Order: sequence, then structure tokens, then C-alpha cells
Amino acid sequence: MTETIGVNGNAARRSHGFGIVGAGVISSIHADAIASIPNAALVAVTDIEPERAKALAASHDCAAEPDLDALLARDDIDVVSVCVPSGIHAEVGIRAAAAGKHLVVEKPIDVTLEAADRLISAARTAGVIMTVISQHRFDQGLLELRDLLDAGQLGRLVLGEASTKWYRSQGYYDSAAWRGTWALDGGSLMNQGIHYLDLLLWCMGPVAEVTALFSTQTHQIEVEDAALAVLRFRSGAVGTLVASTAIFPGFAQRLEVSGTGGSVVIEDGEMIRCELSADSAEPGLRGSLNARSSEPSAAAATPAGLAFASHAAQISDLLDAIDDGRAPAVTGDDGRAAVQIVCAVYQSAREARTVRLPEAPHVRVN
Ligand SMILES: NC(=O)c1ccc[n+]([C@@H]2O[C@H](COP(=O)([O-])OP(=O)(O)OC[C@H]3O[C@@H](n4cnc5c(N)ncnc54)[C@H](O)[C@@H]3O)[C@@H](O)[C@H]2O)c1
Repeated sequence: MTETIGVNGNAARRSHGFGIVGAGVISSIHADAIASIPNAALVAVTDIEPERAKALAASHDCAAEPDLDALLARDDIDVVSVCVPSGIHAEVGIRAAAAGKHLVVEKPIDVTLEAADRLISAARTAGVIMTVISQHRFDQGLLELRDLLDAGQLGRLVLGEASTKWYRSQGYYDSAAWRGTWALDGGSLMNQGIHYLDLLLWCMGPVAEVTALFSTQTHQIEVEDAALAVLRFRSGAVGTLVASTAIFPGFAQRLEVSGTGGSVVIEDGEMIRCELSADSAEPGLRGSLNARSSEPSAAAATPAGLAFASHAAQISDLLDAIDDGRAPAVTGDDGRAAVQIVCAVYQSAREARTVRLPEAPHVRVN
């Protein structure tokens, strides 16, 4: 699409046409997010189950294409949201990139580093821009924490902890054949815990070594429903990671970051505590503090309990990145970095040893 429109009185922005591949649970969040962005429009959806594509198209007033090739052939689509099962993100994303489409890839980028690398390389070769969904980076509390970190107000970081203690029923895993498999999903860390793992990496920086264990305790699935790890960051700081789908009834996702200058606690995207040594006269009185209700987000208990605002913020950022010729806030390399730690956790747990991450940082490619 080449039409330009004004947004909030700012310079005119190009208008972008979207296609969604995969019309399951997360697709309506993408459709609602796209509908909320002034310079975006949902043009068409597709799914290997045609009835799902037709239902999504009907509810969002767009076309249902019979297959991926038909969707990719449309020249009124320049951005594709990849909302298929995790283990085929690269396969679908590579075909979309080869067709010249920019990419919004759901998390995780894929379930292996090899697949992640193929997708990152395909996007680079095609000259398209890719973002991997990590919508919680755009939650208010994370934006406030990022500002504190960028201003150096937490000092030298000491300890970072990310925890996702959620509940998923056996019915959730039985609802689709790909769920709970190593090849297409991964377990509670690859699927659910990766959100706050990405936030932990975003705040604490790269990881040097991982020591982990996992178990499958309450579900009939091949993957883990509880994963725990201790981390040493390259900076010398240390950390912990917990992800489970076996914790009834499901609690708020939690991130704690402590440095020599103070500590911040995030729950479900809100900063619930901030103690800065520079503010010691008024401990706890910064940011959106102590304001949250005691109820965790609905996503703690069901995957359908998500709001779309943070997806909209991330997709909007991708459109600005396309228009301005810059990298998006969350890159393919960021998605790869999170999967690299998940794979290291799984390797450490399987081999009952500490796994050291490669020294050389992955080269940024978009
Ligand atoms: N960001 C988030 O908070 C969030 C939340 C839920 C799911 N997700 C991610 O979204 C992805 C999809 O999850 P879901 O819960 O929507 O799954 P789902 O099973 O509900 O939907 C996946 C859809 O993809 C379709 N599909 C499968 N193979 C396809 C192909 N080759 N071409 C076209 N369509 C195909 C299926 O028929 C299905 O309708 C996963 O990677 C998951 O991790 C992200």
C-alpha cells in the first residue's frame, strides 16, 4: 500500500495492508490490534482449516484466502502476521519473506536455534523487517523500568528474577495436536515463560551460563510443565527463572530487578514496587506503585484472557521501523536470544550440568 495518512497530527505515515496466517487463539488479538492502528488495515487471513479463516474474516471484515500462496500473492498486503504453531514459524515466515512481506512473528521465533537462524537469514536476504512478538516490553511498568535502567538509577545490576506460575488444564494441551510437543511447541518455558524471560534478558543483558532442571508433573504431555534455572549474566549479575503451567489457579507473572541503586518489582506489566536508594526519604513512592489489584491477569488461568493494546504498540513500532528504515524495538535477534536460553535450560536439565553460552554475541541482522 502506498497511500499516506496523518496520525495524531504527526507527519503522514504510509498505510500498511496486513495478512494473518493461522486463525487460532492468538489471531484475533492480531486482528484487533491491527484494527486499532490508524495506518494499518487487515486485508486477508488464511488457515489450513478454511472454516477458521472464514470465521476470522467474517468477524473482522476482510478476505479469507484459500492458502498461503494466495495470501502472499496479494500486492495489497505488505506485512504478514505469523500466528501458526511455534514449530512452523520459520517455515511460514521464510515463504512470506521470500514474497517480500515484512513480518510480525509470534513468540517464540521458532523452537530451535537452527530454525531461528534460517528465518533471520531469510528476512535479511529479502530485505524485509521482522519483529518477534514480546508484547510485554510495551506494558506500562516495563516502560517505566526501562527508563530507570537507561538513566542508570538502579546502579550496577546484582540480581534479576523472572517467574511465570500459570495454570493450564489438560484440556488446553488436548485442544490442538501441536500443543505440548517438543517439535512444535516446547514446554512451559518455551511457550509461556518466554515472555518474562525476554523481559529479564532485556533488563539484565546477555547470559553467560545456565544451570537448570525441569519436570512434567501434572499433565499428560511430552514436554515439561515446570522449569527452573539459575543464571549467571555476562555482567557478573545472577538470576533465577521459573516457568510452570501446573500451578493452580495461576499467579501474576513477576519480574524483579535489583541493583546497587535499588530494586523494582513488576507484576503483570505493572510496577508494584520501586525502591531507589536516591529516594530513601520516600521509599516506594515512584512509578505506578502499589496500585494493582490482587487479581492476576486472566492469562494466568486461560490463554484466551489477553488484551491487545501491547500487541498494537509493538505492531505500530514495526510500521514506524518500516517507514523510517530502522530496526524495530524487538528484533529477530532478540527472539533468537530468548530461544537460545530456553534451549540452554533444556540442555542443562537433560545433561544435569551447567551450560555455558557461546562468548561471541550473535551478529545483529535486522
Ligand atoms: N503473544 C502471546 O501472548 C501469545 C498467546 C497465545 C499464543 N501465542 C503464539 O501464537 C502461536 C499460535 O498459537 P495459538 O494459541 O493461536 O494456536 P492455535 O492452535 O489456536 O492456532 C494456530 C492456527 O494455525 C493454523 N495452522 C497450522 N498450520 C498452518 C499452516 N501451515 N498454514 C496456515 N495455518 C496453519 C491452525 O489450523 C490453527 O488454526 C504460537 O506460536 C503461540 O506461542 C502467543
